[in-house]
Amino acid sequence: MKKNRKSRIKITGTGYYAPDKILNNFDLEKMVDTSDEWIITRTGIKERRIASEDQATSDLAIEAGRTTLKNAGLGVKDIDLIIVATSSPDTIFPSTACWVQKGLGAGHVPAFDISVGCTGFLYGMILAEGLILTGASKRILLIGGELLTKLTDYTDRNTCVLFGDAAGAVVLEEADDESGMLSYYWKADGKLGDLLYLPAGGTRIPATAQSVAQRLHYLQMKGNDVFKHAVKRMGEAALEALKAARLKKEDIDYFIPHQANIRIIEATGKRLKVPREKVYSNIHKYGNVSVASIPISLHELQEEGKLKKGNIILMDAFGAGFTWAAVAYRW
Ligand code: COA
Repeated sequence: MKKNRKSRIKITGTGYYAPDKILNNFDLEKMVDTSDEWIITRTGIKERRIASEDQATSDLAIEAGRTTLKNAGLGVKDIDLIIVATSSPDTIFPSTACWVQKGLGAGHVPAFDISVGCTGFLYGMILAEGLILTGASKRILLIGGELLTKLTDYTDRNTCVLFGDAAGAVVLEEADDESGMLSYYWKADGKLGDLLYLPAGGTRIPATAQSVAQRLHYLQMKGNDVFKHAVKRMGEAALEALKAARLKKEDIDYFIPHQANIRIIEATGKRLKVPREKVYSNIHKYGNVSVASIPISLHELQEEGKLKKGNIILMDAFGAGFTWAAVAYRW
């Protein structure tokens, strides 16, 4: 937990990229035993974006990074670090961030990935704060990029209705005014690892004909358990981040939760007593895009002209690991 203090980092640019191709619930009805009504009622998702065959995660991340730099009025030469949060890397190594660095032509800067499931964007902000406030970096391009549909089993109705592909990004630098990151809270619990994981392809179960036949290269999830932990942990993170920033629930102007399931979003919003209109949600059009969901939400809120200077934003996420985190931010 980090206390409210004077020097802070701020977001100076936002942007995102989502592939054009749409997979809606009616398309899924033709693939597995499900229905549009079931998916909407249980998840809030109507459609999601699907990357094309030839796209990898870095391709989405590069587009998001380029747009974000443009929106910030910057060029690649103006950043000194690239961090990519992802759980669906292009390759086990090199990191997706290195592919992104190549794609952006940002040959001068260090680049690395963080892999903490859907909490990756918030972990990235926390990491960026440390790097910027110690003087190690001046301006960071933080990208959350995910292409989970290539790691999803489209014969498994428990998971295939949930995920979509997208990337969102921000530019972070030291704040020169009262705005910026006020506090954070981050946690992990590795004992919950097998509730949501991708079993094969790493060193535990390397790729073999058998691992492929057993469909172990697709993500697996115990949805019910994930749901319960998510509601509990997101509530905890939100309250702790507020406390660390010496804020009250009523101070929140916008609550931006990770977009995993509309019922998780609404349950967490209720726990925080945030009125529904202040709880941002775009899950109906993207599904769960993991690390991309919070930066996309930030960008959309800004584009819609809803964010006013001084607004208090609470960002909150959980993900595979388990990991969970929240960030309180003054716009
Ligand atoms: N369409 C129709 N029926 C489905 C279905 C689908 N796509 N997926 C599951 N079902 C069925 C189940 O097989 C089960 O049937 P049964 O009662 O005959 O066994 C029934 O629906 C209820 O399943 P359950 O798992 O209890 O549903 P749920 O209300 O918990 O919703 C999830 C399932 C996956 C939507 C929900 O648990 C969830 O969103 N969990 C969190 C997942 C998440 O956020 N993951 C990402 C973390 S970052």
